[in-house]
Amino acid sequence: MQLINVRDYEEQALATLDLPTRDYYRSGSEDERTLHANRAAYDQVRLRPRALVDVSACDLRTTVLGTPVAMPILVAPTAYHCLAHPEGECATVQGVGAAGTLMGVSTLGTRSLEEVAAAASGPLWFQLYVYKDRRVSEGLIRRAEAAGYRALVLTVDTPRLGQRERDLRNGFGLPAHLHQANFQDSSETPVHIQEQGLSGLAVHASAMFDTALTWEALSWLRSVTQLPIIVKGLMTAEDAALAVAHGAAGIIVSNHGGRQLDGAIATLEALPEVVAAVNGACEVYVDGGAQRGTDILKALALGARAVLVGRPILWGLAVNGAAGVTHVLTILRDELERAMALSGRPTLDSIDRTLVKVPRDW
Ligand SMILES: Cc1cc2nc3c(=O)[nH]c(=O)nc-3n(C[C@H](O)[C@H](O)[C@H](O)COP(=O)(O)O)c2cc1C
Repeated sequence: MQLINVRDYEEQALATLDLPTRDYYRSGSEDERTLHANRAAYDQVRLRPRALVDVSACDLRTTVLGTPVAMPILVAPTAYHCLAHPEGECATVQGVGAAGTLMGVSTLGTRSLEEVAAAASGPLWFQLYVYKDRRVSEGLIRRAEAAGYRALVLTVDTPRLGQRERDLRNGFGLPAHLHQANFQDSSETPVHIQEQGLSGLAVHASAMFDTALTWEALSWLRSVTQLPIIVKGLMTAEDAALAVAHGAAGIIVSNHGGRQLDGAIATLEALPEVVAAVNGACEVYVDGGAQRGTDILKALALGARAVLVGRPILWGLAVNGAAGVTHVLTILRDELERAMALSGRPTLDSIDRTLVKVPRDW
């Protein structure tokens, strides 16, 4: 099969992966309305191209929190990469580095944060869940600092796991030969449960994650680390304003790829109100459903500094390891570059709101 676009990679990956992994990677929660809404929102926004602009050289380079990257496309943190490839997150990070961009590394990696850092050639952010026992999170922060991670991504949309019904039907749990590598002994938490009607990850989250988390967590984080804090999982102007007030350096507009609250609005739809509320006080990124360079162009036009992709990276990893990850990112980069040229926007600065037509009620 020729692998020309991200959907080709998805199709090929889905044909390769075993059923529980395939479903874990692709699924959303409950009726998967938000999963589909994320994609549908991109289809609802249309482009207003300008003509007769010199597009002989399009420049995609940018910075995120001051770190240079080759393109405004970053890698969203996702768990359990060893399900897709034996080298797991280490292969992913090599592929991301070769494409010249940045990877968000999940707390729930199947390679440790130190192993991933050792394999990396590009910048890294560390994604953090806050555990009931804050010493667990603080330990992770110290290790991320020591390993050279540039920022912490605090995920705030997961006080408990969304109901992912495919995982329940499959009795999804981490196979015994794999581990949550950031923890000494993941056997004490039930991630390996493989029992129909249960998700090992959901049991783990409800046993470990701090469900009492409030905005105080940001003050606590700022008191224990100098690393910039990016809040991931905000969907409203109200929360964006609170994040700024609590010293966030960045916000990722995200609904966890439609895996948490089903029925939540699409991230692209939430983006304009977040950008307006923040009003330049911190950087705003978005993830969820981006599969094409034109999707990324639309998100940039609506005010995102960069777009993160989650599942496309897993498809690349499953199909061809590090090389597959690099190819997926290169496809997206080339599509974005082409879309910039065809819309008469040769620089990122020239991409603005006048490029898009959005539905009236956004
Ligand atoms: C298989 C999978 C695992 C994920 N694991 C995490 C995680 O450990 N931490 C986190 O903050 N987000 C996690 N996410 C959410 C992603 O960071 C991101 O928000 C989402 O995948 C973006 O949507 P996309 O996959 O449509 O690009 C996960 C998503 C998927 C699909």
